[in-house]
Amino acid sequence: MTTTADRLTPAPGSLLTESSLGRDGFLALVDLAAELKAARAEGREVRRLTGKNIALIFEKASTRTRCSFEVAAADQGASTTYLGPDGSHIGREESIADTAQVLGRLYDGIEFRGFAQETVEELAAYAGVPVWNGLTDQWHPTQMLADVLTIRETISPDLTGLSWTYIGDGRNNVARSILVTGAMLGMDVRIAAPGALQPPADVRRLAAGLAVLSGGNTFVTGDAADAVIGADVIYTDTWVSMGEPDSVWDERVELLRPYRVTAELMAATGKATTRFMHCLPAVHDSSTELGQRVHERYGLSGAEVTDDVFSSPASVVFQQAENRMHTIKAVLVSSLVD
Ligand code: CP
Ligand code: NVA
Repeated sequence: MTTTADRLTPAPGSLLTESSLGRDGFLALVDLAAELKAARAEGREVRRLTGKNIALIFEKASTRTRCSFEVAAADQGASTTYLGPDGSHIGREESIADTAQVLGRLYDGIEFRGFAQETVEELAAYAGVPVWNGLTDQWHPTQMLADVLTIRETISPDLTGLSWTYIGDGRNNVARSILVTGAMLGMDVRIAAPGALQPPADVRRLAAGLAVLSGGNTFVTGDAADAVIGADVIYTDTWVSMGEPDSVWDERVELLRPYRVTAELMAATGKATTRFMHCLPAVHDSSTELGQRVHERYGLSGAEVTDDVFSSPASVVFQQAENRMHTIKAVLVSSLVD
């Protein structure tokens, strides 16, 4: 359905996709996050969001994104209201456009995590205040800010030419965001996925165009061993994303079994310094309900990554998770401080 949302511009400071920030805008947020992280650690953080109110809309589950918005806001003196999958009228009795106009009058900014990218865009079109994408089916831009901060901290402050290799479901939000973000930042981005799970043509075109401008490179292949040669980062994500039915697990395991991140794949980079990254949550052992099901049904201990890799010194996943908070704080400060 076409709505008037098509004609309205999101408020300045909105973050709906990573590519809309441009290279300089993206790196400015990463720099600000590094400064805010240092200030917090050194006890010299200044509260710049006192009196601001922030709404957090979650159509889907979250640990890191929700907690990062709440802690970042609290550190800066702002208040938050959590609107979860149940308990509000959103999407049931009240349209997104009407919700946006209500919340836009009460709040200084709105975070949205949900199923469709079109929903966050419609929210931004009507809210009149900054709207931040906390993950949709298409993009996960706040994850990208944390990932790039982590790459800078653990590999090199200079991103030029670093190889960022993603292995797994190449159509999902995180894979698409990595392809576009790495390309925008002049990195050598590689996606290894079976043919049926490779990024769609429009995303590949967008990334290829950004790589031309930045001097970066993009490469999509079905060959995981080839993709990881010389990789600085090996990154993977869950094989079945939120919103997909449990029934796809059988087919997904069949397709992705050869794409697990194992110690052998890490060694195939030929580099001792390669880092393992994952946005989390990860199926890396049988300690969770999902991990147990994967073990019982498919005979696998862990799915997309084995526990020896996940728990190895090469793994920076918890630093990544912490950096969600510092980078989200940078988004809030840069959007809401005049
Ligand atoms: N990586 C990430 O977005 O985690 P949550 O789903 O816990 O927010
Ligand atoms: N691709 C995953 C990312 C979770 C942070 C999902 O959408 O479920």
